Amino acid sequence: MSAFETLIYQKKNGIAYITLNRPQVLNAYNVQMRDDLYEVLGAIRDDSEVRVAIFIGAGEKAFCAGADLSEFLTAPSPVVARQVRWTRDVWGLFLSIPQPLIAALHGYVLGSGLEIALCCDIRIASVDAQFGLPEVGLGIIPAAGGTQTLPRIIGRGKALEMLMTCRRLSAEEAFQFGLVNHVVPKGKLLEKAEEIAQKIASYHPLAVRNAKRAVVRGLDLPLNEGLDLERRLASELGWVARQGVHMKQGEE
Ligand code: COA
Repeated sequence: MSAFETLIYQKKNGIAYITLNRPQVLNAYNVQMRDDLYEVLGAIRDDSEVRVAIFIGAGEKAFCAGADLSEFLTAPSPVVARQVRWTRDVWGLFLSIPQPLIAALHGYVLGSGLEIALCCDIRIASVDAQFGLPEVGLGIIPAAGGTQTLPRIIGRGKALEMLMTCRRLSAEEAFQFGLVNHVVPKGKLLEKAEEIAQKIASYHPLAVRNAKRAVVRGLDLPLNEGLDLERRLASELGWVARQGVHMKQGEE
């Protein structure tokens, strides 16, 4: 286990656990958390022992209540911010992680908190979760990918409604919108995330990675290019299978 100032990073049985750990401010996303996340994500990407990762928020009240508003007015100049983004594109890194990412969401999931969840592949909510992008109400727009990731997940109309009216969704509404895969009782959140993670970790890692890559990359391609991509990724697995690598079949 390695501790960062704003995160806890643990690894157990092929599962990485990343806990956003600023519970006194509802895990608000600050510059230090960005730097810590950048390091952790790089470590996950390069660690073949990590088969799947779970994101969690510390404390009772929130996964993450968005950007740290106390840093709001002390943000660097746009020039500095752009330079930092060039060298520390945490959101680009997030979206390039080959392993599946699971977000276990409770309490407030706002702004950057929701954008972190949107960079994950599977989202699970406990019944108390509340989702929203309050940025427009603050005179800004999401800048951690939310305007792009949200419509890709819940569709244009619902995404625009959330963005332009700052509508907050309950866990049940988020499920109806297709924003989360499951809603579970409060005490069952980690259990459900681990159940899914263990299932994923039981399969051949390359098959899992290629399935993720085919879907995530393919969604941004025209259909014929997506089909080409699928063919390439499938034949890579055919090669692995011919090498006699044991490919576990799904049990469902
Ligand atoms: N940035 C910095 N601090 C934050 C924060 C944020 N985004 N969200 C909450 N906090 C801090 C509060 O200032 C408070 O600190 P304090 O105890 O020192 O006063 C602590 O976290 C607890 O929050 P509090 O507001 O008392 O909890 P609540 O249950 O009454 O309200 C929210 C919860 C999420 C509705 C409310 O905190 C809120 O609106 N936060 C801002 C959400 C937001 O706009 N995020 C930015 C998106 S761009």
